[in-house]
Parts: sequence; structure tokens; C-alpha cells
Amino acid sequence: MKKQFISILITFLIFSTHFSKKLSMFAESSAIISADFEDGDISMFSKRGEYDASVLELKKDGGNSGSNYLWVSDRKETWNGAQFGLEGKCTEGAQYIVSLAVKADKASTVCLSMQHTDSSGEDHYNNIMCTESQGKWVKMNEKKFTVPTGGKNVFLYIENISGTDDFGVDDFEIKEDSSSIEDNVPSLKDVYKSHFKFGTATTVDELTPKTTQQLILKQFNSLTIGNELKPDYLLDKSATLQNAQKTGDYTNPLVKIGGAAQILDFCAKNDIPVRGHVLVWHSQTPGWFFKEKFDDNGKWVDKDTMIKRMENYIKNVFDMMKKQYSNVNFYAWDVVNEAWEDDGSPRKPGEGNGASPWVQIFGDNSFIKYAFQFAKKYNIEGCKLFYNDYNEYIEGKTKAIIKMVNELNSEEKLIDGIGMQSHLDVQFPGISMYESAVKAFSQTGLDIQVTELDATTNDCSASGFENQAKYYNDILDVLVKYSKFVSAVVVWGTTDDKSWRTAQCPLLFNGDYSAKPCFYSIVDGLN
Ligand code: GLA
Repeated sequence: MKKQFISILITFLIFSTHFSKKLSMFAESSAIISADFEDGDISMFSKRGEYDASVLELKKDGGNSGSNYLWVSDRKETWNGAQFGLEGKCTEGAQYIVSLAVKADKASTVCLSMQHTDSSGEDHYNNIMCTESQGKWVKMNEKKFTVPTGGKNVFLYIENISGTDDFGVDDFEIKEDSSSIEDNVPSLKDVYKSHFKFGTATTVDELTPKTTQQLILKQFNSLTIGNELKPDYLLDKSATLQNAQKTGDYTNPLVKIGGAAQILDFCAKNDIPVRGHVLVWHSQTPGWFFKEKFDDNGKWVDKDTMIKRMENYIKNVFDMMKKQYSNVNFYAWDVVNEAWEDDGSPRKPGEGNGASPWVQIFGDNSFIKYAFQFAKKYNIEGCKLFYNDYNEYIEGKTKAIIKMVNELNSEEKLIDGIGMQSHLDVQFPGISMYESAVKAFSQTGLDIQVTELDATTNDCSASGFENQAKYYNDILDVLVKYSKFVSAVVVWGTTDDKSWRTAQCPLLFNGDYSAKPCFYSIVDGLN
């Protein structure tokens, strides 16, 4: 009895010291896991499923910190490695910060990624960060990731993408990201209410963190779907092929809603007007769409076939929206994107490297008229139809766009508005150059929307940000001056860390959601 009591007591003591060590670690850093392996425990990691040949073991001959670390050997494929399960430990839709140290003996690229299976059963693999290692420990510094909503089999995993060599892991830590939006700053949508809508763009991934959703709800009253309404995302190749093989009709490209659903549901629920983007573009459109028998390796189709495919595609997209998203206010749609070169000529025919399959098949930019005719024919009620382009302030392109809209609108109004993407840099274009373009576009009498505003700076220091603030302020002053013609200003993204030009910090909010000087410069004096 005495013996039994002592053994219970010892077990209790072992457990309680073990847990209190872990608990105090949690409290200090709100860490989900903080593994330096010094306690000898590697059980939080496993190989990547039953087909992974890896052997995971504890080594004690010198980690990144201390002596212990996790070693992954016997790998047979580059994807073989170590994984850490997030389910039950992390909250869906929440953001976390991960860091770790890795080591490979031979020169290798070691990567950390996240995988999950979505509710439709599709697997996703998203890289978080990679580093090079040759014989030395390399720290992979803190990086944010968001736990997907409704996902299963959610893991962070580490692999050596250079081959099947061994690698080690140490100081693996996941912390909660405690950043939140600033509630006490003005809302852009309110500040600019009497002038134009103030919007942003988001992809499904960017919209996953709850904090980003809160930022959007507080600041913006227009949302552009960053990727998921582009042909690459909407076109359903297998349904299209199946239908074509069954009916013998190779002119009907079928569509599916895909990832756009999540963003559209968010817009419907929160009553946020949507800019559709984009129907007809040389980029992010699959090659098979333009090829005989919908075959990637087929020949280009002839113009008549392509006209039919274009008509059916536009009809199918708009019909799907009318049927499934009658609760969404699509107030504008980019019908054609980026058809003109800076010197006012059409793009080169072909595919890839900026060449256009549309020009390849039509011989020139005459496809634009068809696109607007079909968009008008099948349009969603209340949705304005836009021509959208970048470098729109370069004279050759400004003139080509104005000539085109005047010509296409001469018999009946096909184009409602001009979208100025406005991917700017604090050095170029100058304010007067930008204003000349806004003025020239306004003289067409059409609606103008700034559709993808961001302004990069090579200097992300405090003084660089002041300079950027001045530039943003001057651009917004121009847009307010012409606000009779401008119905929306949309920035291309929410926080700098998620921007497509992240290295040059082009947006209004920092990665921790705090407002940047350029935010304050454009709300000051107007609120
Ligand atoms: C262009 C497109 C956008 C987007 C950006 C880059 O401006 O119109 O859809 O792809 O490039 O993010």
C-alpha cells in the first residue's frame, strides 16, 4: 500500500513538473508549441503518412540550441519529411507565427509548408518559407500563416526539396499572432463617402484571417476578387470536355464557382458591393480555351469558333452569378483587361511573355468589341462594364484607350467605364502625369474607377514612408478633384505583407494591421 502510494506520488510529480514546464512556456509566449527537443520528446512530429519512408529520430550531438534535435533520414522522395498536426491545437481562421532552425549535411533547400484537405476533398499545399543549408544550422525566422477554415488533415511539414538527403529540425515554435486592427482610426469608406466608394482586393487565402475580415469590414465598401473570377479559376476543363465529347459541340466552355464562393458569401453576408475581375484577358487564361478540341496541344481555333467560345463563356459566367449569387451586388465588371501596349499598339500574337492568344486568333484587337457586346447582352442588372489597364497614364496607352472607347461607343454605349489600375511608384508617374490621364479619361464622359491602386517605395524606413504618404495624398487629391467622374478607388490588397509587391511596401496598412503614414495622409483633412 505504502509502495503503491509512493509510486503514485512519483508519477504525479513527474507529470506535474513536466506539465508545469510546458504550461509556463505557453503562458509566457502564448506558444502552441515550443520544441527544442532537450526533454527528448520528438513525438509531436511524424513522417508524412504511410507512404513516407522517412525515419524520425532524436540526435544529441549539437542542435541549433542545446544538444538535442530531430533528425529525418532514409527519405526516398523529396516530399518525404516531418509533419506537425495543427488540428485541435490551432483555431480555424486564426493567424499564427512559426519559426524553426534546419540543417542539411549536403547543400540543400529545406522548406516549411502547410497542407490541408478542403471541404470538397481537394488537397492544398502552400509553401510558407524555404532556406539553404550546407552543414550548418540555419534559422528560419518568424513567418505568419493562417489555419484554413473547414480543412482536414491540416499539417505544417518540413521537406528537403533538393532531393532525398537527410535534414534536421530544431527550435520549432508556433505562437499565436496577437495583432488586431486599430479601432480608433477613421474608416476610408466613410471619409470618402461623398466622393466615391473606397475598396480593396482579396484572394481567398488573404481573406482567411478573421483580422483581415475585420479590417475589410471597417475600412472598405467595395471588394474585388483578386484571382478567383479569372478564367484560370472559373473554367472547368473536365466538365467542358465531357460536355463537348457528349454533344460534339466544342464551343461551350463550362464554368464552376470554385474559391470565389467564399469571398462572394462574405460579400453577400456583409453587404459589400463587388467588382468582377476579369472576363477577357491574355493572361491567367488556360491555353486549351483557345485550342482545337479544347486540347492544350491542339492548333489555335479559328476566329468564328473563338467568337462562339467567348460568347458562351461570358454567358455562362454571368448566368452562374445570376443563379447562385443574386444576393451579391456586382456593381462593376472588368470585361477586357490589358489589351494595349504602352505605345498604343495591340499586344503581340501568341502565348506567354505578354503575348495574346486573342490577338493570335483575331489578328488584331477587334475581339474587344465582341467582348463588350456579349457582356452587355448577358449582363447582370446594375453592373457597369469596364475596360481595365495598367500604365494607363503613359500617353500612347491613354490615347489608345480613349480612341477605343469613343469608337466602340459611337453606335451604342458598350463600355460604361475605364479602369485605371494605378500600380504606381513614389518615383513614377509624377502627379501631373497621372492627373493628365485622369483628366483625359474624364473627358470621355465615362465612369472612371481606380481599380488596383498601390504605390511602391524602395525605402520602407520611416522617412521613406513619409515620402510615400505625400505621394498617396497627392494622388488622392487628384481623384477627389475629378470625383464627379470617379465612382470607386480600389487598393490592390489589404496589408503590405500580403501584397504582390510586398518587398516595396505599397499598401495602406502594415503586416500587423496598423495604419501607415500613407493611410493617415489620405484621411487627414477629409474626415
Ligand atoms: C494585374 C491584374 C490583376 C493582378 C495584378 C497582379 O494588374 O489585372 O488581376 O493579377 O496584375 O497581382
